[in-house]
Amino acid sequence: MTTEHPAIAVTGLRKSYGEHVVLDGVDLTVARGTVFALLGANGAGKTTTVKILSTLISADAGDIRVAGHDVTAEPDAVRATIGVTGQFSAVDNLLSARKNLLLMADLHHLPKREGRERATTLLEQFDLAEAADKPVATYSGGMRRRLDLAMTLVGNPWVIFLDEPTTGLDPRSRRSMWQIVRGLVADGVTILLTTQYLEEADQLADRIAVLDNGTLVAEGTADELKRRIPGSHVRLRFADTHGLDTAAQVLGRVARDDDALSLRVPSDGSLRSLKTVIDQLDDQAIEVDELSVHTPDLDDVFLALTGDSNKKVTVR
Ligand SMILES: Nc1ncnc2c1ncn2[C@@H]1O[C@H](COP(=O)(O)OP(=O)(O)OP(=O)(O)O)[C@@H](O)[C@H]1O
Ligand SMILES: [Mg+2]
Repeated sequence: MTTEHPAIAVTGLRKSYGEHVVLDGVDLTVARGTVFALLGANGAGKTTTVKILSTLISADAGDIRVAGHDVTAEPDAVRATIGVTGQFSAVDNLLSARKNLLLMADLHHLPKREGRERATTLLEQFDLAEAADKPVATYSGGMRRRLDLAMTLVGNPWVIFLDEPTTGLDPRSRRSMWQIVRGLVADGVTILLTTQYLEEADQLADRIAVLDNGTLVAEGTADELKRRIPGSHVRLRFADTHGLDTAAQVLGRVARDDDALSLRVPSDGSLRSLKTVIDQLDDQAIEVDELSVHTPDLDDVFLALTGDSNKKVTVR
């Protein structure tokens, strides 16, 4: 493939199961060497999207290219470049981690010796060397998930699909998984992941998309998404009530907390709106003790964008 292709390019992706429309025209582009996070409520169609992009099931319509290859016309070329870590573990519980990895190396037609070396390297890299020869049935959830990802890496994929890679992991295991993902991206790998943990998307993803009712209802960087929903504000704290009173008069529409000597000024969190507030205060020579910018977190974004449309917050 040539350099001009994005790692993943999807337009007009549709998929229904009988009458049930799961994906109703999804467009997305993932640049090479970036992490793209797909968010959505249970049943939104995240796994369906991952399965279509990784050639496991077919779409009803859409132009879907992975690594420049059409998933329908050239599924083998797509498969040769990708790795998939499914939502549910696909390792053989009766075998050891090493045996599982060797099986995978065979599937990728690696020469025996190379396969053994690859398995050993991955076991070390994923902190599984000690338990390498014990049956996977005895592993913890975190070890199993690490093995899942190690299995995906046997074939040296450069586009990786991770369907809820850290569901059920404790905070430490989650962080260690994040480190692994960052390491892969630093090596130039492209990752599309789905997650229920918005902090995970916030931590890892260059771009985030929210899937709801079959379409992407929002897409952007974490900061862009946070700015799109109401709730961003600047918080100002004053030394005394005089400052508080004057500022409240000058700034107009503010929420006031007399006990904390503070004001909440609605703001989109942008530099321009911050400057407007500061200029207004400066003009009146009002002293501010503390200024902080508060943007909604991704949980707010998610709740505002998905679910019951009656409760949906209108985005600008
Ligand atoms: N083989 C199938 N036959 C019929 N319906 C299906 C099939 N696979 C998925 N669905 C339906 O498609 C919808 C999307 O499912 P999908 O597994 O993609 O959701 P998801 O976003 O991954 O959810 P979760 O967060 O629970 O993993 C669901 O309503 C599901 O019931
Ligand atoms: Mg799923």
